[in-house]
Amino acid sequence: MGQRYDDAWIAAMLSAERAALAPPEALLTGAGAGPGSTVVDVGCGPGFFTLPAAHLIGPTGRVYAVDTEARMLSYVADEATRRNLTTITPVLAQDTDVPLPDACADLVVCALLLHDLPIAERRRMTEELRRLCRPGGAVLVVEWLPRPAEARWNRLAPAQTMELLVKAGLPVWDQAYLGELSGADGEHDGMYRLMARRPLAAEDA
Ligand SMILES: C[S@@+](CC[C@H](N)C(=O)[O-])C[C@H]1O[C@@H](n2cnc3c(N)ncnc32)[C@H](O)[C@@H]1O
Repeated sequence: MGQRYDDAWIAAMLSAERAALAPPEALLTGAGAGPGSTVVDVGCGPGFFTLPAAHLIGPTGRVYAVDTEARMLSYVADEATRRNLTTITPVLAQDTDVPLPDACADLVVCALLLHDLPIAERRRMTEELRRLCRPGGAVLVVEWLPRPAEARWNRLAPAQTMELLVKAGLPVWDQAYLGELSGADGEHDGMYRLMARRPLAAEDA
């Protein structure tokens, strides 16, 4: 894979192989998104989830595309214009602070982001995911599996991701292995997804 955020990286993030392995529409629907939903895509990158989410939620829904990289937000905004999608709002975040109101989302997506954060920030980010999600709403997390033969310090095993979510008050109700993608180094990397739910206030009490 090339330099992060260059054209090759964007192409890899949006590859047909990835979309075939884990179709974003199916993941979003499985997590409860549909017409009229509000989706917050934290760490949206070039929009692997943001753009299909905008198609899925239709004219009455809203998608907030959140990233710390202005270039990613410009890419998503340009693509939204090209596809005539008017319900996407780009949001520039700083560190783990997402400038959106509490409980604004029916579904919060956080794909391939947590492993990239310094360890101390992972906890803060999962707390931010909970803050953004409305009570009874859903959180979809996608992550790379650690490579068995290689100490990739930043990769999170499903149990570690689950622990982060549960500690943030987001019980995980489903987990699935999505399959393997081939990387630029010829290796194959496994991907998985977790689905969590923010309990209703009455369940929290
Ligand atoms: C590996 S990309 C994944 C992009 C997209 N979610 C996907 O699945 O294709 C991670 C993205 O998270 C963004 N990012 C990194 N730290 C972030 C933070 N603290 N808050 C929001 N976005 C962040 C990066 O700029 C990058 O665009």
